[in-house]
Parts: sequence; structure tokens; C-alpha cells
Amino acid sequence: MGSAFFYLYFINESCQTLSCHLEVLFGLTEGILFQYIQITTEQIPETGYFIFWIGGLSMELLEGIKTRKSTRAFKPDPIPREVIEKILEAVSNSPSYTNTQPWEVVVVSGQKKNELSKVMIELLRTKAPTSSDLPKPKDWPPALEKRASEHGARRISTLGVSRDDQGGRERLSQMNFEFYGAPCAILLFMDGLLGEWSIFDMGLFAQNLILAAHSLGVGSCLQASVPGYSREIKNILGIAESKKLIICISMGYPDEKAELNTYRSIKQKLDEFTKWIE
Ligand SMILES: Cc1cc2nc3c(=O)[nH]c(=O)nc-3n(C[C@H](O)[C@H](O)[C@H](O)COP(=O)(O)O)c2cc1C
Repeated sequence: MGSAFFYLYFINESCQTLSCHLEVLFGLTEGILFQYIQITTEQIPETGYFIFWIGGLSMELLEGIKTRKSTRAFKPDPIPREVIEKILEAVSNSPSYTNTQPWEVVVVSGQKKNELSKVMIELLRTKAPTSSDLPKPKDWPPALEKRASEHGARRISTLGVSRDDQGGRERLSQMNFEFYGAPCAILLFMDGLLGEWSIFDMGLFAQNLILAAHSLGVGSCLQASVPGYSREIKNILGIAESKKLIICISMGYPDEKAELNTYRSIKQKLDEFTKWIE
């Protein structure tokens, strides 16, 4: 099943802007194409002039899971607020332990995002200590460590940067704190009292978020590097120090021509991670 969505904008005689949201669901049932139009707004203007529309197609779930990849170069075009709302509304259906729904979402764009970026780049430049609410494990099992180091090497070589090119590596690292040029960053927080069980829920929420975004043509990159400066981020955004910053998700429309976006990570084959026990 697929769906298309449209937001139609009208202006009335008192110069008020009104919007109307249409959703068209379509699919095949026993070989017959069906479609279903749903008007999901109460603000259908009776009089007024049509000004513009935005919309898009969303994709089938399995196709979405298979084609999603991290986006590390974005077009500067902002994501319309309606599109972000559509993503977050869908993601609100995420599962969580005993339906606790621990996620607290902060959407940052514009000047505030630029301010965050500036402060983090200065912290990086001065090698200021990091303050992540989720400290990294010291040791990784060797197989995972190997995958991580291969990923690092392949990713930097996409940009023609070699392992011993310190300047090039620093530049790549800085791109994290420029949100890879994304117009929007979504920060996921949870209450400081919560621990591993809720982090599991936060992961499910984050995965749904990046899949929902992808289905609407919005690219994303999960970033654990950004929460390394969690103390400063909370301070700038006026978020209580007691909250835990779990992950940053840079989001925007992918710049398909950018070299960084040609990189594709290598995944294990099904039989490398699955045992069948009967
Ligand atoms: C918890 C988590 C943290 C991540 N942090 C970063 C990050 O700080 N910077 C970055 O460029 N990518 C980051 N990534 C993206 C991973 O590198 C990426 O998901 C992985 O290499 C697999 O590639 P794919 O997303 O294209 O399938 C992170 C992913 C996860 C799940």
C-alpha cells in the first residue's frame, strides 16, 4: 500500500491563510487498484483563493527499510513544518515498555541550530571535554570493532581523505557539528531517572522517525557525536540539566550529488547474524 499527501493553502477575504490536508491511500486488493481519499482537517475554507500546495508520495514499508541509508549532505531547503508534524504524528505510534513513551522531542532549526553549531565547533577546536549522558563503552567485541574501523576508513576514503591525513579527518569530524548542512536537527531527550529499558524505547522511536522521514523523501543521520556536548546543548536550548540527551538526528532533503552521500555501509548477510533453532 502507498499513500500520497497534499496540503492545500488558501487565503480568505480577511487575508487569513487556511490550510486543508488531503491524504490519498492506494493499493492493490486481489489485483484491483483501490484508492481512498481522506480529508484530515476541519479547516476546509468555503470561500477563498487557492495559493499553493505541498505534497508527496510515501513508500511501501519494506522498500523503505531496504533503501534507507544515512544522509551526510543536505540541500539547504527547509523541511515544511507540516511534513515534520506528519512524521512525528506517525512516530507517536511507536511501541514502548508498558506504554511509557519516554521520548521528549526538540526540533531545532534556523538561528538556534546555527548557534549550537558554532558553540560545538569551538568546543571541538579547543578540545574541550565532552559530557555525554550516555558514555561510550570502553571495549567492543573484536568483530564489532573491526566493522567500526572498516566503516570509518571507507567513509573517509569516499572524500579522498586518508587515515593519516589529520586535517582531513578533523574537517570530517567538524561536519558532524555542522549537522552535515541539514536545515533541521531533532534532539531526543528522556527523563534523567530513566535507564536502559527506556533507551530501548528511544531507539525504536528514533528508527521509526528516520523511516517515516525517508518515506517522505527526507534524509537523516543519527548522531551520537552531537550529544557529546549535551551540557552545553541543554544550556543553550533551556532544557533542564536533569534530562538525558539520547541522540541527535540531522534531517533534510538529501543532496544526491554530494560525494559523501555516495557512501554505502556494508551489512552482514542474513546467515551471519541468524541461527535457526527447531
Ligand atoms: C546510535 C548511533 C549513533 C550514530 N552516530 C553517528 C555520528 O555521530 N556521526 C555519523 O556520521 N553517523 C552516525 N551514525 C550513523 C552510523 O554510522 C550508520 O548508521 C552506520 O554506519 C550504518 O550506515 P547506514 O545508516 O547508512 O545504514 C550513528 C548511528 C547510530 C545508530
